[in-house]
Amino acid sequence: MKCRPLYPWAWRSIQLVIGACVFVIVGTVLPASGQTPANPPRERLLMDSGWRFFLGNEWGIAQNLSKAGTGSGPASASFSDASWRVVNLPHDWAVELPFNINADSAHGFKALGRGFDSNSVAWYRRTFVLPEQDQHKRIWIEFDGVFRDSEVFVNGWFVGRHESGYSSFRYDITDVIHAGGPNLVAVKVDASQFEGWFYEGAGIYRHVWLVKTGPVAIAPDGIFVRSQFPGNRPGPEAEVVVQTLVHNSTTNSANVAVVHEIVNPAGQSVARIEQSGPVRGKADLELNGTAKVTQPQLWSPEKPDLYRLITTVHEGGQRIDRKETVFGIRTIAMDPNRGFILNGEPYVIKGTCNHQDHAGVGTAMPDELHYFRVSRLKEMGSNAYRTSHNPPTPELLEACDRLGMLVMDENRLLGADAKHMGELERLVRRDRNHPSVVFWCIANEEFTVQSSLSGARAAAAMQELVLRLDPTRPVTYAAPQGNDFWGINSVIQVRGWNYHLAKGMDQYHAEHPQQPNIGTEQGSTVSTRGIYVNDPARGYVSAYDTNVTSWSNTAEQWWSYFAARPWLSGGFVWTGFDYRGEPTPYHWPCINSHFGIFDLCGFPKDNFYYYQSWWSDKTVLHLLPHWNWQGREGSEIEVRALSNCDSVELFLNGQSLGTKSVARNSHAAWLVKYAPGTLSAKGYRDGKVVAETKRETTGQAAALRLHPHKPALKADNEDIAVITVSLHDGEGRVIPTGNRPVQFDLSGPGKILGAGNGDPSSHEPDVFIPRQPITTRPIGGWRMAPVADPYQANIPEMQIAVNDSSWQRVDVTQESGPLGQNSKAAFRARFTLSHQDMEKASIELCFGMIDEEGFVYVNGQKVGESRDWRAAPVFDIKRFVKAGENTVAVALANWTGSGGVNKGAWVALRDDVIPVQWERSVFNGLAQIIVQAGSESGEITLTARAGELRPAVLKLPVQRGTPRPGVAAN
Ligand code: GAL
Repeated sequence: MKCRPLYPWAWRSIQLVIGACVFVIVGTVLPASGQTPANPPRERLLMDSGWRFFLGNEWGIAQNLSKAGTGSGPASASFSDASWRVVNLPHDWAVELPFNINADSAHGFKALGRGFDSNSVAWYRRTFVLPEQDQHKRIWIEFDGVFRDSEVFVNGWFVGRHESGYSSFRYDITDVIHAGGPNLVAVKVDASQFEGWFYEGAGIYRHVWLVKTGPVAIAPDGIFVRSQFPGNRPGPEAEVVVQTLVHNSTTNSANVAVVHEIVNPAGQSVARIEQSGPVRGKADLELNGTAKVTQPQLWSPEKPDLYRLITTVHEGGQRIDRKETVFGIRTIAMDPNRGFILNGEPYVIKGTCNHQDHAGVGTAMPDELHYFRVSRLKEMGSNAYRTSHNPPTPELLEACDRLGMLVMDENRLLGADAKHMGELERLVRRDRNHPSVVFWCIANEEFTVQSSLSGARAAAAMQELVLRLDPTRPVTYAAPQGNDFWGINSVIQVRGWNYHLAKGMDQYHAEHPQQPNIGTEQGSTVSTRGIYVNDPARGYVSAYDTNVTSWSNTAEQWWSYFAARPWLSGGFVWTGFDYRGEPTPYHWPCINSHFGIFDLCGFPKDNFYYYQSWWSDKTVLHLLPHWNWQGREGSEIEVRALSNCDSVELFLNGQSLGTKSVARNSHAAWLVKYAPGTLSAKGYRDGKVVAETKRETTGQAAALRLHPHKPALKADNEDIAVITVSLHDGEGRVIPTGNRPVQFDLSGPGKILGAGNGDPSSHEPDVFIPRQPITTRPIGGWRMAPVADPYQANIPEMQIAVNDSSWQRVDVTQESGPLGQNSKAAFRARFTLSHQDMEKASIELCFGMIDEEGFVYVNGQKVGESRDWRAAPVFDIKRFVKAGENTVAVALANWTGSGGVNKGAWVALRDDVIPVQWERSVFNGLAQIIVQAGSESGEITLTARAGELRPAVLKLPVQRGTPRPGVAAN
């Protein structure tokens, strides 16, 4: 079908005018991306690839407070990062660190934070060329999230500091960028302070984008689209309300026309809004318009139909901006008696709380991993996700929009001060178009202030801000109190309940009948996958739904309580997935939590089947425990059936052990004398067998298997396969008690990103970083002599054939240099390299300090300069040196204090990178390997080996894919 141009206006058809807006109902199919001019005014380019990373900050403070554009050390363009490791984002360096018993347990004992200073600050650097044709554009750099306290420098200019480790931020870098030339972005990340009490990762663990717009453009987060129906009840016609902010960065005023095209899930254009107005120079224009969409397809977790709003901005007949916003049409409400209402009907929240943390990768989760995790939750029948306790990555919300998962979007910290209100405002502006987001949660468990007047005031101010920015979603606070109406609970729209099951809930509801309620954090069984006897020494908790902390409840306790009280709206289990840190109920050697329904890899624990029984519409019959109890023959073992069948009959080796009925939201249990063989069960409904299952005693380990979560990858540099590694006996059965190391090798167009196994006490590495051994050799025997002009091009004293034997001998290893104030001098020394040295992967010349401005020569050739006395400059000199004697010379000017070459000088020789052998043990039969595709298509071969076992070989096709538009690193 031919596409209609959006401009000129000539072909407007059926038009209905309301105020400033026009809407048109049409049936045209629009292409997914619309027309793209050769040099589109707006581009959003991924900047994830090709960063250089260095753990440590030996350069001290990078921001020069006395002179602009002179960021020092890695922030300076003259700094050499040739020896730094290349990483792609998202990247979490904490996951690479070793475990240490002296490190913070809440953060998973990773050697980070207090006492581990050298692991707590790191640098990222990246260069890129901005095309000359972009010289009149506005250029932004956007960070989806950096943990934490980042300072960003562009071309030596300090462009901003952002402390929060969770909120997104952006800088307009137009004024410091070079169009048509190379540009340097340097980011210092300081993760020495924590924000949460759980593993938080470290580094640029979310995407980075370069955004280009015209000088007059839709403002950042400048579109807010929502839908409404009369009486907030879905009907035949939805009103779509669009607020647009156009920003004019020029000094001249501009007359703009804004067109919004609404495209339905089938790709048809169904409505249109046209508006226009003047936008003054250096100002914003806000436009508000509405359009009607008839017979709207409502968004819900069960049917996540998405609309697109295609906004174009025009000036003088030219299209100057275009942006697509995905949204959904649906209604939500909170009813004090009926609970949460979705699309006009009560809708029970079957939710989980989660942190952004996964086996193998830590917080640096590729987008597909969010889809993987959300899909696993949906498989369980879950329909809601609480982003505890911080703003999520935008890609998680996209996954929830597309797959159908409601979201409670959570702010990090309570506070009505400018900084915290700013964080909250950014969160709401960023996320308010997502149909999945149905609640805002302003904070979690603010024990110290929650019952105070000041706590109430802060919460009220925050709630007011949220409702001003988004009047459509209820606001809650995750309150860890019982029947307590003081402070925050007294002002918040929706009473959130963290735990305190039955402790005054009914009474609270009776006393405050107008306030809706929700279970913000409930349940919280502690369990280890595949473990059925508590083992404090090894840090394992049995997976029967019996172990809880003093404040929490089992799955069955909380869910049966909530299910009976519709006014509670359902709630969110703590947690969907295990996460690193909070190793409750044990301590070292345990390094991660046990709260998950899934382990850290997303392998289900037994409680998964409890929830699936009562949350999904699948027929479920699951038996626990496993049936490998060699040595316990004749002793009684509790067998449970998790099922939504009416009754379950249990058999041991074909002999019936009786039928038990399964009460709603409950389970059936037997005490069975152990005998090896087959434990089996039949599930009945209306007297008919509707489900069967069995647990068998398995034999000796015989083989490994590899199973990817999807059959093929896309060659787009980002796609991943989550691969299950399993240990099988001779009859092909997974051995639920099997634990042994497995080695992995990969060939083909991809790489292993990380490995895990869900063992909460495993100290095996999740990632294997190739090492590049380094040898350093001090350069001694320095001499110094005055020089006329160190700034000129041909300095005689820098040439190779200079007789410097009469020059003054100097020691350059001192803390300050030998050169007086307002002096200029040449420094010279020699170093020798062998033929073997010349074979090294890299050869660098390093200085502790060149004070103040120095021009560095090797064998008479200039290798670089250092204009920052605080930098510890490093020069890549491999192409300037030879086997035998080499000369280094520095022409230097020192203006203040003593100066010169000081703090030492040395040559650093790096070997080739040593390849790594990936290894991970299977834990109770399973492990996980995450493999990422590159940009080439072909076939990845992953091989798993373990001693005498039959190895597993997985051939994973990598199909042609299109990497997202990105900025090439140069
Ligand atoms: C809650 C808290 C969670 C987690 C949990 C552990 O009180 O909100 O973040 O710490 O306890 O049980």
